[in-house]
Amino acid sequence: MKDFKLIVSEALKNQVKDLSLEEIVSLIEIPPNKEMGDYAFPCFKLAKVYKKSPNMIAEDLSQQINTTDEISKVVNLGGYVNFFINKSSLAKTVIENVLTQKEKYGHSNLGEGKTVVIDFSSPNIAKPFHIGHIRTTVIGNALHKIYSSQGYKTERINHLGDYGTQFGKLIVAFKNWGSKEEVEKEPIKELLKLYVKFHDEAEKDPSLEDKAREYFTKLENNDKEAKELWQWFRDESLKEFERVYKLLDIQFDSYAGESFYSDKMDRVINIIKDKGILKESQGTNIVDLEEFNMPPALITKNDGSTLYMTRDLAAALYRKETYDFEKCIYVVGSQQSLHFEQLFKVLELVGFEWAKDLIHVPFGMVSLEEGTMSTRKGRVVFLEDVLNQAIEKTRETILSKNPDAKNVDEIAKQVGVGAVVFQELSNSRIKDYTFSWDKTLSFDGETGPYVQYTHARCCAVLRKANEEATTDINYDLLSDIDSFEVLKVIESFNKSILNSLKKNEPHIVTRFCLDLAQAFNKFYHDNSILVEDDEIKKARLSLVKATKIALENGLALLGIKAPERM
Ligand code: ARG
Repeated sequence: MKDFKLIVSEALKNQVKDLSLEEIVSLIEIPPNKEMGDYAFPCFKLAKVYKKSPNMIAEDLSQQINTTDEISKVVNLGGYVNFFINKSSLAKTVIENVLTQKEKYGHSNLGEGKTVVIDFSSPNIAKPFHIGHIRTTVIGNALHKIYSSQGYKTERINHLGDYGTQFGKLIVAFKNWGSKEEVEKEPIKELLKLYVKFHDEAEKDPSLEDKAREYFTKLENNDKEAKELWQWFRDESLKEFERVYKLLDIQFDSYAGESFYSDKMDRVINIIKDKGILKESQGTNIVDLEEFNMPPALITKNDGSTLYMTRDLAAALYRKETYDFEKCIYVVGSQQSLHFEQLFKVLELVGFEWAKDLIHVPFGMVSLEEGTMSTRKGRVVFLEDVLNQAIEKTRETILSKNPDAKNVDEIAKQVGVGAVVFQELSNSRIKDYTFSWDKTLSFDGETGPYVQYTHARCCAVLRKANEEATTDINYDLLSDIDSFEVLKVIESFNKSILNSLKKNEPHIVTRFCLDLAQAFNKFYHDNSILVEDDEIKKARLSLVKATKIALENGLALLGIKAPERM
């Protein structure tokens, strides 16, 4: 794909010997209004080097740089060299690329032969799958799609929280107060109730805590009864999680959660010990990280039991040996930043050179209007409820506009779920935000449904035209400003994907979709497409088709469907 910014930079580089091509690229700006040109190069930095005024330098450069097939005009505008791109040449490049590459447009094989492990979603067994989990779930899935689009092999891992002393508590609670029927009816709500009851009762009767520890030890020693109950809690919880994943159309390559590492921790503990960095401290085992301004990493407790950290150490080693990853990405909330810093540091101290390839991709917290979420106080918004309400609201909207709409269930699902996912991917990851039903269910403004609607609009035009879009068109007819704006956005697709991959920030792709939808709607509003003049009609149809493909591909990278009718 020809990159017009690069073409401009190369033309400059031929004249400006004192700056590298990279420096020139990074200096290039987009002029504030379109009449001034498409790219601008400021000469203020050169003024110091050449001891001449920026205006004189820009004047000289604009004389020296020749126009070409791609660059139609070069002018000096107050110390800036401004470039006008040959619009029909850009149109030809873009339309030909999109129409021939179709669903592969924007993709590349940059990552061929490389594997990226993505640890995401990873909810805890017997705990609600709530709105706080949506970000890791949809960001992780989008990163999987983004990396895959550039040829990487991805391993999607759901590191389920299915191990730990709380399962001893749950077993005791179930044996004392639980009923099989109740759990099967509403597994997570019931298990959560039992868990809360355990804590209330244990305040009155501390011996329950001992019992819970006993049962956890039994579980670790593969006691039949304990193991069966645990397995059942896990299976029932997973059934609920799977319903949400199905709504979101998200799959995993592995559900190796924390329990998977129960027999793999001794080895990693021994490796740390052999390295001479495991320290005893009041019966516990730690790795001292004071030198790095961090609290110590706790590896085993004083009763010898292991922790979340120990399992993550074993998991990292297992993943390196199993997948030989180039990167291992953890999509986990920013509350766990210290945990990951400690984890990566310990692995580095052990001498694993690949510790540098472990990346924590944090995101901000979700709170509710009534305060932070609290499962024990019952202050929690279930993810499944959010998705179902979004679907229901979409169904009502569709039917109120068009009572005999076809395929309503499927479209309502694609649009309702798409709205929620798009919103989660709209902001930069790290910002905290407050969940609001109103905002989530309002589809006005810069939303997923707006982008999906623009895509459906393209489909409607193409259906109505009833002829194939081709690359055999007169590209001069797409050199008007409205078409050009659409084409420029489409042209930037691959750059947006690469940028989002580099920063692990899906919202850059979200922004691309919105920019394209906006540019296209302006074009659509100001121009008729199915006009008398056959040449113009053909050219515009090709533009519509290219927009349709680019929008569909963009949404696909976010894990959002693009229905043909809405
Ligand atoms: N289960 C954890 C939680 O809900 C997230 C696990 C993230 N992955 C990891 N390898 N630590 O907080």
